[in-house]
Formats: sequence, structure tokens, C-alpha cells
Amino acid sequence: MTIINRDKLKLLHQREAARFVAEHPRSADLYRRAQGSLLGGVPMNWMKKWAGEFPIFVTHAKGAHFTCADGKDYVDLCLGDTGAMTGHSPDVVAEAVARRAREGITLMLPTEDAIFVGEDLKKRFALPYWQFTLTATDANRFSIRIAREITQRPKILVYHYCYHGTVDETFATLHDGVVGPRRGNIGPPVDPLETTRIVEFNDLNALEDALKHNDVACILAEPAMTNVGIILPDPDYWRNAQQLAKRYGSLLIVDETHSICAGPGGCTAEWKLEPDMLVFGKAIGSGIPGATYGCSEEIAQRISARIHLEDCDVGGIGGTLAGNALSLVAMRATLEHILTTANFKKMVPLAERFNDGVAATIKKHGLPWNVQRLGCRAEYTFCQQPPRNGGESAAAADFEMERYLHLYTLNRGVLLTPFHNMALMCPDTTAADIDQHTLLFAEALSELTT
Ligand SMILES: Cc1ncc(COP(=O)(O)O)c(C=O)c1O
Repeated sequence: MTIINRDKLKLLHQREAARFVAEHPRSADLYRRAQGSLLGGVPMNWMKKWAGEFPIFVTHAKGAHFTCADGKDYVDLCLGDTGAMTGHSPDVVAEAVARRAREGITLMLPTEDAIFVGEDLKKRFALPYWQFTLTATDANRFSIRIAREITQRPKILVYHYCYHGTVDETFATLHDGVVGPRRGNIGPPVDPLETTRIVEFNDLNALEDALKHNDVACILAEPAMTNVGIILPDPDYWRNAQQLAKRYGSLLIVDETHSICAGPGGCTAEWKLEPDMLVFGKAIGSGIPGATYGCSEEIAQRISARIHLEDCDVGGIGGTLAGNALSLVAMRATLEHILTTANFKKMVPLAERFNDGVAATIKKHGLPWNVQRLGCRAEYTFCQQPPRNGGESAAAADFEMERYLHLYTLNRGVLLTPFHNMALMCPDTTAADIDQHTLLFAEALSELTT
């Protein structure tokens, strides 16, 4: 098994960092200027975490490619961390949005597009009723509120190292088996021990022990974890977990925001899951802000029994712009024309191609790494076997290695997703795009290991 020479890794990273700065003078200028008006020089704090010394500023993005302020073209395997899994600005969505933008953007009144979208979601996910928010974070927060309200239970259950957006209760991990704030948790409003139970993914005994307290309103889960590597469930995991949830009176909220990569109906349709509620954001409007949450007939009835007309505007589920006409027209065009079976048939084989190329390279260099796939999403992690839970995956993190590999490919025209080694395919991604990554990945490893 090859052992990485960490000194060499440092030197190579320094070389790539210098090249990045030298080749992006215009982005460097813009970043300097941004220091004067944007906190930290970026519009959102996590944009500082890209592999280079500053983020590259973008001028244009279409399909699977974008161009930066220095005029360089990139293959985009990040695709806005799923927001642009549809490809950047698909024509059909851009045209529908442009039309709607001239005809009224937000009214606090419904448009017919909302019904089209509800009907489509009903078919995709086999849940009858839908509501809209601006972000998947909000859709998760509102689903949790509803679960607490209708079960009258105080706690939620999530998986160790999950990510569901900036939802307070989910910003927690296990510390020697005890729930505590996740590292870096900024100003937690309450100790998550009070709100949250956490178990490792794929551990049914731990799940049952946690549910046995009869105080868990809901399990909020990605059907396959996608934010700490890709972690697939054991073959019988969800059948058993669903039974446990029912037995102990906890609802199951499935967050398909990333796992929609598994197919047009996400893992829910692929694996015939039967969640009580379902959340789907990011790609649903091709990147136009919007998200949705849906529920079963039974949950709908329980909601109606507890939420009254007089209070429904101030009950903690809201958002003035939620369900606006522009978001809904973007969702309609996206669902009707982009997130289709035909497009998934193009995207999934490309992710297989990515996996095959990366797996062969890892093997050739004798590295104890693996690559995993879920539909049109693929990701490699720095451990021999695909991780089975968040703890295993987090333990294999290698920040320095990640930055080297990301910067190496970025300097040569391929963007990976920051904060993990994820590659996503859109309908416009080509085999040549994937082969470009495979070649660069192989070159980066050759330089490191020879
Ligand atoms: C599974 C999952 N759910 C929800 C979210 C939150 O999405 P947003 O940041 O758009 O609210 C994310 C974000 O990465 C996510 O990965």
C-alpha cells in the first residue's frame, strides 16, 4: 500500500497555490476590491473555503461549463453543490423565468404553475400534498416544526455528521457517544442535547435505543448520506428503520435535496421508501431559489386538526416570498423538461464513467482510498472501504490532500465540489469532461506518489 509523503504533498500544494494566484490576476483584483464592502471579501462566508487563496469570480455559466473573470473555461463538476444539477441556465428554464419576470414575480397569491408542480411531485414521490419555501433549510425546519406539533414530542433524530442546511437542531454530532454542538457551530441557540438524538447511520440497534424513549417527533434523514462522502444504506436498512419509526410513533422525513441524483423520484422512488414527509430543494428550480416539502394523507389530516386559520400566518412556518410566481415557474420548467427519466439515463452512465476512471487510478497507485456513487453523483474518500457511517467517513477526512487535489484540477480547468470530493453530472456533461478529470486525477497522483 502506498504511503503518502506529507512533505511532498505540502510542496506540491504550495506550487499549485502559487500557480493559482499567478493565473487569476483579475479574480485577485476583484477579491481585493471586495474586501472593501463584503465581509471577508465574499458574499457568503463559506466562499472563502475554496481551495485557492481566493474564490474565482465567474462571468458566465452554461450547461456543464463556466468561464471566470480571467477568461478561463472550466468543466463544472460541482454544479453549485446540486443547485445546478440541471446544468447552468437550461434554455427552457431561462425562457420561462424571463417571461415570468416580466409578468409579475411575487404576489402572495398562487399561480397555476404551483398546481402543475404539486401534481408532478405527487407522481414522483407518491405523497399527495405539497408546500413551498425558498430553501431546503426552510423546508426541513418547517417539516420538523410540523412533526413536533402533531406528535407533541420534543426531540428530533438525525445521523452523526449529517447535513440538512442551517437547521439548528441538526448542528450536532456525537462526542464520545454524547450529543453536543458540531465543531464550528456558530452561536448555538440551545444545547443540542436538549433537542436532538443522534445515531450512526446503518446501526439499527442504536436507532431503536434512541426511539425507545418515545420522545422523538421525527427522524430527519438523507436516504443515503451525501454530505460526508456518499454513504449507502445497508440493503435492509430502510425497511427496518421505517418499521422502527412506526413502532415508536416517530415520523420519517426524507431529505432528497441531494439524493435526487438517484433518479427523477430520488431514492424514495428508486428504493420504494414510504416517508411521512419529504423535502426537496436546490435543483428543483434549476437554481432559482425554491424548495418544497410534501406529506402523506395521514399527516395532512393531523396538520389540519392542529393548525388553525387564524394563526397560520404567524405560527413559525412562513416566508413572504415562499411560493412566489418566479420560483414556481422555474420549478415547473425544471420538472417538466430537465429532471426527466431521459436525462437521468444520460447522467448516470457518466457518473459510472467517473467512478471507473477514479477507481482504476486509485488501484494503479496502490492508495487506500475508495470511490462511491449514487445515481449521477460520485465521490472518493480517503479510506480503503466505502464508509458505512458518518463517524467512519469523518475519521478519513484529509483536508490537506483534498485541497491539493482540488487545486490541481482547478488549475487545469476542472472544478470539484468544495468541502468534499464530489462530482455531479448534469444533462450537458460529456464523456470528454469526465475523461479530463480522470486524466488530471491520474497526473496529480503520479506527481505525488513517484
Ligand atoms: C441534504 C441537504 N438538505 C438541505 C440542504 C440545505 O440546502 P439550502 O442550503 O439550499 O437551504 C443541504 C445543503 O447542502 C443538503 O445537503
